[in-house]
Amino acid sequence: MTRGWSLIYEGFDPDQEGLREALCTLGNGYFATRGAAPEAQADVVHYPGTYVAGCYNRLATRVAGGVIENEDLVNLPNWLLLTFRLDGGEWFSVNAVELLSYRQELDLGKGLLLRDLRFRDREGRETRLSSRRLVHMRQPHLAALETTISAENWSGRLEVRSALDGRVVNAGVERYRELNNKHLEPLETGTLDEEAIFLKVQTNRSEIRVAQAARTRLFRDGELAGVERHTTEEPGYIAQEFGLDVEEGGQATVEKIIALYTSRDHAVSECGHEARKAVARAGGFEDLLESHTEAWEHLWRRFNIEMETPAEQAALVLRVHMFHLLQTLSLNTMDLDVGVPARGLHGEAYRGHIFWDELFVFPFLNLRMPEITRGLLEYRYRRLDEARAAARAAGYRGAMYPWQSGSDGREESQKLHLNPLSGRWVADNSHLQRHVNAAIAYNVWQYYQATRDMEFLSFYGAEMFLEIALFWAGVATYNNELDRYEILGVMGPDEYHDGYPDANEPGLDNNAYTNVMAVWVLCRALELLEVLPADRADELRDALDLGAEDLERWSQISRKMRIVFHDDGIISQFEGYDGLEEFDWQGYRDKYGDIHRLDRILEAEGDTPNRYKVSKQADVLMLFYLFSSEELGALFKRLGYAFEYETIPKNIEYYIQRTSHGSTLSQVVHSWVLARSDRPRAWRLLTRALEVDVNSAQKGTTAEGIHLGAMAGTVDLIQRACTGIETRGDVLRFNPCLPEEVRRLRLGLHYRGNSLDLEVTHETLKVAALRCVAESVTIGLKDETYALKALETIELPLS
Ligand code: BGC
Repeated sequence: MTRGWSLIYEGFDPDQEGLREALCTLGNGYFATRGAAPEAQADVVHYPGTYVAGCYNRLATRVAGGVIENEDLVNLPNWLLLTFRLDGGEWFSVNAVELLSYRQELDLGKGLLLRDLRFRDREGRETRLSSRRLVHMRQPHLAALETTISAENWSGRLEVRSALDGRVVNAGVERYRELNNKHLEPLETGTLDEEAIFLKVQTNRSEIRVAQAARTRLFRDGELAGVERHTTEEPGYIAQEFGLDVEEGGQATVEKIIALYTSRDHAVSECGHEARKAVARAGGFEDLLESHTEAWEHLWRRFNIEMETPAEQAALVLRVHMFHLLQTLSLNTMDLDVGVPARGLHGEAYRGHIFWDELFVFPFLNLRMPEITRGLLEYRYRRLDEARAAARAAGYRGAMYPWQSGSDGREESQKLHLNPLSGRWVADNSHLQRHVNAAIAYNVWQYYQATRDMEFLSFYGAEMFLEIALFWAGVATYNNELDRYEILGVMGPDEYHDGYPDANEPGLDNNAYTNVMAVWVLCRALELLEVLPADRADELRDALDLGAEDLERWSQISRKMRIVFHDDGIISQFEGYDGLEEFDWQGYRDKYGDIHRLDRILEAEGDTPNRYKVSKQADVLMLFYLFSSEELGALFKRLGYAFEYETIPKNIEYYIQRTSHGSTLSQVVHSWVLARSDRPRAWRLLTRALEVDVNSAQKGTTAEGIHLGAMAGTVDLIQRACTGIETRGDVLRFNPCLPEEVRRLRLGLHYRGNSLDLEVTHETLKVAALRCVAESVTIGLKDETYALKALETIELPLS
């Protein structure tokens, strides 16, 4: 249940625990820890997981007669471990007691996880347990857990155990369990002083050292209690136990403060030394809480979207989405060498890999704190050489970025994946999604549009962009007969189609999305060379060996790329799509109920989606998501294809009927493309997209990690689709279109260094300039433009 600024769970439900752990994850963009119970170890109900952004390790496994290698975001030592027992009895576990009450609350405003429960044990003793937990938003290496134990009807000896456990493995995803999962080897354990323990481990291939230090203090009725401690050490594990007497009605509070460092961190001498130092310097829980809460207050000031709506649940889930976005990508991320992990730092699905999903995440960041986008784009820049090597190995010039990316930027897509329905290992061809390259170029351009950050564009963005353009120009082949260029043997975003039904080789020809995106990249690449300072453009021409003939080829391809159509104006998802069979949607719904993952269902039946007109997710419709109709119209015109206004609704209707939404990104895109033509339907799709994680609408996969792209996409729907913001040319354009359910929308924006406040109702658009770096900002509404000066407000009627 959600209320106000909180996600609240009443009662303990073992079946829901995995989901709650993912949704109650606390993080700060540097690391995150799932909302697991501190007394629990990984078992069928619980999965404590701690992940540091960018901390990967590779392991090889023999499966299906071959050896496959996978790189995973590593589950790091569990720092949460804290449990207790009374008078030498059983260690506390929710399974061993009678729960009298149980409540868990995620406070989104303060970034706090609260747990409050009462229980009666076998001896009839009644105890209350309340805890508060935080992962510090301003001091990214610190986290804290405060637990208060109240003796309601007993007096006796309370014993507490506080541990750091590095014996953990990556076991958070059922489907990966056949794969090797032991990434950590123990290095060192020890005590620091009376109060603190220390653990150091290392990932066994990438050799990243990880150090944790934990200081545990005990307070009796608010006073620090001096206690004797007993330490247990095993390879990869260290625990401290201590006890004190508690009187009936009395309380003991245990405060555990931890520091976490790795050898990848900046400004460290040795990670163990830093962890020790940090824990010694850290204040108590209350001190940390104060600065942590303040950091969250600042974040919310910048990022919050106020939505006046009777749909309170929707408003709250949007806040949950923003919360998790900011926990995965925050100010602390800016300076790290990390990308946008598709499943957050909240679980192990997709192994913490980085896909094209940043395309859905950056628009949210670009208009709020573009510095974060910049840091994340630099992750791509640092892997440009690897992308160049991949292009060369495939016989192309330029840079070919991988579909899935991890530590060094090589292709991390798995070669085989397990279909849990059939138990078969199936070839995975998703690396053929070359469109990820277009997404990276698009993101560079959008970042520049929102910021005008010429330094970034000159020294990082342009080089990536031009290398990607070179790649597309190399991949496109000329078809003499048609006098058109083609892109053959790729996959579009729709992962149900990886080849032609009876072909020996995977890959599809002329995927419309890929071809149009390649054209867009080539057009912008030509423009980019004009926009860059002349000396920098010359340097890049020299460095990338870009000649006049290259530019001529770009220009040619951008005018003659092939797009295939069928049924009088339907853009074919790929060449040959028209010849595929229609799918028996109703029959399969009746037979299976949930048919999100038709690929798995059909494979288990010995069939393949390649035979049918079925899409996992928006593919052609991505074009209407990414481009305004004017921009898309201009691209089609350049290509010499007719693009009537009706093209859009006609294509939307066609593909919407043939899409299963097997990817969480899909509903976001569909909602977006319907936002203007069919507001009630768009709202319904948005509400479904809002259900994906909080209600785990996708058959429980949220327990393995949130869907960051879809989360960001829903927020961006409100931020950009409802306001119609477009950062094209030198005008900040608006075209508001609120859903019926939203009465008023207020949000702050950062646009090219200017700080704006926006208020939209069904009647008016109000833009206020709070801070301007330029003399004025040019605002556009319909065909009119207005100059908005600092501290001025413009109010425009929308009728
Ligand atoms: C989707 C991809 C997406 C990936 C990671 C897949 O299910 O089909 O488009 O990039 O998940 O979120």
